[in-house]
Amino acid sequence: MKILFTNIKELLQVREGNILKVSGAEMAELPSIKNAYLLVENDTIIDYGTMENCPIDSDEVIDASGKIILPTWCDSHTHIVYAGNREQEFVDRINGLSYEEIANRGGGILNSAKKLNETSEEELYQQSKKRLEEVMMQGTGAVEIKSGYGLTVDGELKMLRVIKRLAESYPVKIKATFLGAHAFPKEFKENHQAYIDLIINEMLPKIAKENLADYIDAFLETGYFSVEETEQIMLAGKQYGLVPKIHVNQFTAINGIETCVKHNALTVDHLEIVTDDDIAVLKNSTTMPVALPSCSYFISIPYTPARKMISAGLPLALASDFNPGTTPSGNMNFVVATACIKMKMTPEEAINAATINGAYAMGISETHGSITKGKKANLIMTKELNSYYEIPYRFGSNLIDKVMINGRFLK
Ligand code: NIG
Ligand code: FE
Repeated sequence: MKILFTNIKELLQVREGNILKVSGAEMAELPSIKNAYLLVENDTIIDYGTMENCPIDSDEVIDASGKIILPTWCDSHTHIVYAGNREQEFVDRINGLSYEEIANRGGGILNSAKKLNETSEEELYQQSKKRLEEVMMQGTGAVEIKSGYGLTVDGELKMLRVIKRLAESYPVKIKATFLGAHAFPKEFKENHQAYIDLIINEMLPKIAKENLADYIDAFLETGYFSVEETEQIMLAGKQYGLVPKIHVNQFTAINGIETCVKHNALTVDHLEIVTDDDIAVLKNSTTMPVALPSCSYFISIPYTPARKMISAGLPLALASDFNPGTTPSGNMNFVVATACIKMKMTPEEAINAATINGAYAMGISETHGSITKGKKANLIMTKELNSYYEIPYRFGSNLIDKVMINGRFLK
């Protein structure tokens, strides 16, 4: 089955297959073809170019006059699988409590963990699939999903099995991350090592046996997991082939990034607080920094200093952090817009960060994240637009006409 798109106003993010991420000044360039065609066969992009060279052989032709086509978003950091909601904490914050104060009262992650452990696997799947379907319709074609609201052997396994079932049931590419080290359960508050031992000796072997995770994560933060505790988790994960992707520098900078880089973390995520030393460590590493601007927006904390990082030559990826506490939204168009509006990223930088660099941040940039021959046919076709600047500019509008994942249009 061949589908041919014709008269595309602008085909964005057209790249050779050897480009796996873009860094520093390269992020300002978004290669494109104006007045383009694009040919998809089954689930793969097979050809593109300008309309003068448009082929005629296809099974279906879609006229994209006035419209822009770009690769679907690669959302490399989410917690889409969760039970219930935390809207009461949202109102508590409006009334003056901070995220930290709410967590210290037993709210926050432990609140979600309680709900999750009381919810059946089937019910958890039903709740989570609605969110996955929503983000697919918003143009996400690949998503990383974390555990971390179980914090018990059964709860963590339940979450990871739901992630696996989602991956088997939907065309969207899914990568799974084990985040048992998200918070210390109440009963381990005074005995951190006992919980870390539970993660290492009970959870990890079972997860590895069922092949439930690609990556390992920890919340490296003052009041959560220390640098040394996170190091133990990263080393244990490595024994099972799990590469680290770490929550770090959300509220405080405690030299965690250095340790993540030392252990070859694929990504370091959040980075609302970044020091010059952190930037120096990330330079010359293969670790991708990941910013989560809708989290900053939702809980009113600083934004990742993107300008400073890009000026230093670093790459940057953007992700949603979709979760019940700090970001109850997986709308990547809003993430891109917020990065432009609040972090002063240009539209080109933000789109690069949410596509090719997002793909790198979940280890799939050989197959996703750009319009490249041989890559997956994962496409967003917009409504008629003046230019791609409208994607961040009209931050509150749904500008998507059609989404294609693996060569098929979403209904
Ligand atoms: O990425 N920072 C740690 N974890 C999540 C939020 C967890 C929660 O509040 O439920 C985050 O923001
Ligand atoms: Fe997160």
